[in-house]
Amino acid sequence: MRIFRRKEGGRIDPSRLPRHIAIVMDGNGRWARRRGLPRTVGHGVGAENFRAVATHCKELGIEYLTVYAFSTENWKRPVDEVETIMELLEKYLHEAIGKMEKDRVKMKFFGNTTVLTEKLRRLIAKTEEISARFEGVQVNICLNYGGRDEILRAVAQYAEDYAAGKAESLTEKRFSDYLFSAGIPDPDLVIRPSGEYRLSNFLLWQTAYSEFYFTDILWPDFDPKELDRAITAFQKRDRRYGGV
Ligand code: IPE
Ligand code: IPE
Ligand code: MG
Repeated sequence: MRIFRRKEGGRIDPSRLPRHIAIVMDGNGRWARRRGLPRTVGHGVGAENFRAVATHCKELGIEYLTVYAFSTENWKRPVDEVETIMELLEKYLHEAIGKMEKDRVKMKFFGNTTVLTEKLRRLIAKTEEISARFEGVQVNICLNYGGRDEILRAVAQYAEDYAAGKAESLTEKRFSDYLFSAGIPDPDLVIRPSGEYRLSNFLLWQTAYSEFYFTDILWPDFDPKELDRAITAFQKRDRRYGGV
């Protein structure tokens, strides 16, 4: 009798896909340093990898992809590194604008984008304006984003609305509507590559019941096959939400 073994990691069950995947795109610097290259080179390769992974998500039929691109804490880095990251974002958005409608990829930004360069703000406004015109997969880019900052902003805005008689008493649902992620389902799966086992201020409210997947692979090496591996691992989890 022949025994059929499942391939390592098994196959993705298309009927049980996560609706929303969130990724901490971490490990660019170490990827470059291990090759004797400047950290900034790692950010460039990481940005290219983002395209590949986003395309793969779309092909699989994932509805929402949220990526952590720059945190409220990342301003602590050397100025030239921050500048390189911002320039890569500009380049990415500039290129994305021409094809997002054809590819049916909508884009949204989580974070305080008001402090970014004028060029970046214009590109963000443009991508959001284009996104409003059609339906498609949604990519949320967390840029100058911090989970605590997001919660504080929500609290401040709610307090203002309440004082003005414009808000009812708080519920979890009403509070969620004050977050950058308003109207978007919570992530089902959060992926953190690079061997770090922490959230680093990513989606603190939204990950209350997310499944977590950690791997030592650095972000520039986290290719579509690694994503498939993360999804098959997710599909083996038993999500109980406090029940039995
Ligand atoms: C993630 O890679 C990119 C950003 C935080 C902007 P890192 O730059 O943090 O890479 P490591 O963690 O130093 O390897
Ligand atoms: C988290 O990575 C932020 C992004 C990937 C954008 P960091 O590299 O900033 O996180 P820490 O410093 O290791 O916690
Ligand atoms: Mg890092």
